[in-house]
Amino acid sequence: MSNFRTIWTTEDQYVEVIDQTKLPHELVVVKLETYDDAEEAIKEMIVRGAPLIGATAAFGIYLAVREMIEEELEPSFLDKAFSDLRASRPTAVNLFWALDRMREALDNTDDFLKTSWETAKQIVEDDVETCRMIGVHGLPLIEEISKRKNGEKVNILTHCNAGMLGCVEWGTVTSPIYQAVQKGISVHVWVDETRPRNQGSNLTCYELTKHEVDHTLIVDNTGGHLMQHGMVDMVIVGTDRTTRQGDVANKIGTYLKALAAKDNQIPFYVALPSTTLDMSIRDGLKEIPIEERNQDEVRYVIGKSAAGKIESVLICPETTKAANYGFDVTPARLVTKIITDRGVCEANEEGIAKLFPEFEEK
Ligand code: MRU
Repeated sequence: MSNFRTIWTTEDQYVEVIDQTKLPHELVVVKLETYDDAEEAIKEMIVRGAPLIGATAAFGIYLAVREMIEEELEPSFLDKAFSDLRASRPTAVNLFWALDRMREALDNTDDFLKTSWETAKQIVEDDVETCRMIGVHGLPLIEEISKRKNGEKVNILTHCNAGMLGCVEWGTVTSPIYQAVQKGISVHVWVDETRPRNQGSNLTCYELTKHEVDHTLIVDNTGGHLMQHGMVDMVIVGTDRTTRQGDVANKIGTYLKALAAKDNQIPFYVALPSTTLDMSIRDGLKEIPIEERNQDEVRYVIGKSAAGKIESVLICPETTKAANYGFDVTPARLVTKIITDRGVCEANEEGIAKLFPEFEEK
């Protein structure tokens, strides 16, 4: 797509990422030199989005291997790195998938440094190709609506950021959108601001602006109204974990968009790489752990003041407490289809198993 990525390696074989807590106002690059740095980057959401969390954790293991060798530490150091990184965020399953892939690679080699470096780099490359393919399979869904509307703008609503900033390149939701735009299809994106951390306004708007995609920012409660008035043709969201029966965990508020879409007969698609499938569980509501974060993320809003300063402002009485659930689960019955790197399928056990038969064998 472009040479721009969210994570890359340096000449001295460290890792750099974009500090997403500073976007859209400042483009700051952070160097990760220890596994602590990688853990911190995930916890503090310097990097976020399921695939990017996975890629960062993979490099976290490489950095731990490097520290272990350079500082002649005991192997228990590496075990600790695995368990610390595993505990860094609970909902996105890509984190655990990436760590398992790193563990397996290390269990089958004598050259820990080379293997961890190459495996982490491969995870990054794989994500680029996977997301590109989500676009290839998702594009016809946008194209079909465009044809039905005789080339008039296709209005797509999205929540949170499931763009390139949540991945390495392309993004999941944004891949079909970018490919549609490249093909000359007229597209407009409604971007939910996505409180409390505003991934929509800060990140999705940032990258859509960079890619010159027509978009409009809306507050999180606007989607239903737009749908009732025929202003949304389709919803596409990302996911942090999708179960074998097609239940989808995604950023808090996704479920409400799915309900509104159902009530207005608007297709509700979920774009996901196979690395976001958790075939070990069925019932998303009961089995997906939902992250709860610091209440101050709700009580304060961060933005740029008129004087050009990045500031955090309190938006409730000092003593008001807040609940901060990071994700919710949209039951499969509300999902029209899922768009994967292997193709588009029904959000149910049969549909998923048909595209991913290898998971059945496990
Ligand atoms: O808390 P975040 O910003 O990590 O949540 C991200 C999301 O919910 C995304 O929609 C999801 O990870 C898909 S990213 C391709």
